[in-house]
Amino acid sequence: MNSNVRVGSIELTHPVMAASGTAGHGAEPAAYGALDSIGAIVVKSIAATEWAGNPAPRVHPIAQGMINAVGLQGLGVQHWIEHDLPAMAAVNASAVVSIWGRSVDEYRQAAQLLQDGLAHSPHRSTVIAVEVNLSCPNMNGHGIFAHDIAMSAEVMRACSLLEYPLWAKLSPNTDRVIAVAQAVHEAGAEAVTLINTVVGMVLDPETGRPALGNGGGGISGRAIHPVAVRTVFDVHAALPNLPIIGVGGVTSGWEAVELMLAGASAVQVGTATFADPRACFKIAKELTAWVQSRGFSDVASLSGLAHRGGLG
Ligand SMILES: Cc1cc2nc3c(=O)[nH]c(=O)nc-3n(C[C@H](O)[C@H](O)[C@H](O)COP(=O)(O)O)c2cc1C
Repeated sequence: MNSNVRVGSIELTHPVMAASGTAGHGAEPAAYGALDSIGAIVVKSIAATEWAGNPAPRVHPIAQGMINAVGLQGLGVQHWIEHDLPAMAAVNASAVVSIWGRSVDEYRQAAQLLQDGLAHSPHRSTVIAVEVNLSCPNMNGHGIFAHDIAMSAEVMRACSLLEYPLWAKLSPNTDRVIAVAQAVHEAGAEAVTLINTVVGMVLDPETGRPALGNGGGGISGRAIHPVAVRTVFDVHAALPNLPIIGVGGVTSGWEAVELMLAGASAVQVGTATFADPRACFKIAKELTAWVQSRGFSDVASLSGLAHRGGLG
């Protein structure tokens, strides 16, 4: 059975990847499974410079998932290239580097540092794509980049100096996701990653105040899976030629299949990894077994079937 899938200009050996922010610094998943049995590891979003993130507590469990406000803590692009990229190369990982910024200029700086750093790195071929995380707040304006069609496109154009395939990670917290997806595609994104977390809040029953240090946060895990399915379905229906990477609440092979049927070419697993560090590998196996049990000869043929009569 052929488990290869195409996402824009690149081919992955399996559609299941580890989602950004949920796979440590990038090399850790190698301790839990064979990296050639998953497509890639998307690294925690990194900015041009070091960033401290939000005050603790940063994570809190909810029914069927969690809420987090980690706040994109990280040591910056150069540190990642010097310290984390060699570790990923040593375990033969395929890395998708996620970058973020608080302004269009900061995205451009992160992209430039990454491009220059990789050009001089012996490990540059470990990186197969760059995911631009547009789902973070814009400090120069208001709200989240991916809620603003023009600004999302501007960020993608600023990142186009990168000589790697670009994916744009979008937010589900807007009714404009189709227009944003189209705009980022026209501005250089080969694919869109749907979805980032859903905004929410939990109050502490003892104090009556927000449980997270930041106040609100982003909900992830099984609770948001139907939001991800709907977003992928709607974007694929409107833009059938735009490759989609589906992410949100995948905890089993069937949920990965569901995102592919809705229109995704590949899938990422995030929060499930906090409950079981082997989740990515387990879900990849379950997906392959499901495809085989239904008599398909290749995994890629699942993509978008829900729009073409389903499973028949
Ligand atoms: C603790 C935590 C940290 C995250 N950090 C990032 C990040 O740095 N960049 C990003 O694009 N998404 C980040 N995400 C979002 C996930 O990549 C994913 O889009 C989201 O959690 C939905 O998938 P899931 O339900 O499988 O976790 C984070 C999620 C969690 C739970």
